[in-house]
Amino acid sequence: MERPRRPRVFVTRQLPGDGLARLAAQVSLRVWEEQLPPPREVLLDEARRSEGLLTLLTDRLDEPLLAQAPSLRAISNMAVGYDNIDVAACTARRIPVGNTPGVLTETTADFAFALLMGLARRVAEADAYVRAGNWRTWEPGLLLGSDVHGATLGLVGLGAIGEAVARRARGFGMRLLYVNRRPRPDLEVELGLTRVDKATLLAESDFVSLHVPLNAETRHWMGRAELAAMKPGALLVNTARGPVVDQAALVEALARGHLGGAALDVTDPEPLPPDSALLNLPNVLLAPHIASASHATRGRMASMAVDNLLAALEGRKPPHCVNP
Ligand code: DGY
Repeated sequence: MERPRRPRVFVTRQLPGDGLARLAAQVSLRVWEEQLPPPREVLLDEARRSEGLLTLLTDRLDEPLLAQAPSLRAISNMAVGYDNIDVAACTARRIPVGNTPGVLTETTADFAFALLMGLARRVAEADAYVRAGNWRTWEPGLLLGSDVHGATLGLVGLGAIGEAVARRARGFGMRLLYVNRRPRPDLEVELGLTRVDKATLLAESDFVSLHVPLNAETRHWMGRAELAAMKPGALLVNTARGPVVDQAALVEALARGHLGGAALDVTDPEPLPPDSALLNLPNVLLAPHIASASHATRGRMASMAVDNLLAALEGRKPPHCVNP
């Protein structure tokens, strides 16, 4: 008996865990083995020839690409965010798009809190100071930072990750404010959160942490006016998406000393160009978009992305599908 033809799938990078082995058992698989993302022309060519794509946030899937991919019937993004994909265009072509919510919530919140603590207490600067051989004695005024306990944290967005950050902050005795499209009275009671308007959050928070997806509404949510409205000396943490912040305005606010500092796991663009002013500001803590990067979580994300893709290829709705 003739074996049914296997769908062709292109995966845009090697993935951790056993997800790819499971996929290889069921599809005709091509994996992009390079460290850098496939160039646009490769992605276009692979999309044209594939029924399924497993992508990362570095891979842009837009209308021109979809228009050239007549056989494509499943897309799975290994990320909770999917701003790299034109979901409306996928929906119009009846292509389901999967993402990986939930599994990375706690790991991302851990890292957001690590950045907050690292920035407040100048951990990277202290490490560099010691390594450079500058440590000569105990000094009363050396590398003074900001207290986290008792400070006010403003959460922009109170989805799963914002909530997980709030739980950590509560353990540190922080006062918690939030802005979110819908109120969360359950969490207000449980965690002592207060829902405020944007102006109050900016004016009263010692730390502001961003937890919104990137879309037309949130692009440059933190713009020049919002940065100016932040409490003088406040610290900004971004583990969401770089373009949620107007980066040029952020550089100015940091350089003129209005903000105390910024800790950024995400920037605009990624990676930062070598001449980015952020690289020369001492009050900036930078990371290469690694908030979800624990061994366990990245393995789970890959596995979930494979499950989403296989479901869509079998004509089922992916367990985590972002199309409306
Ligand atoms: C996501 O999942 O959207 C993160 O930015 C990467 O884990």
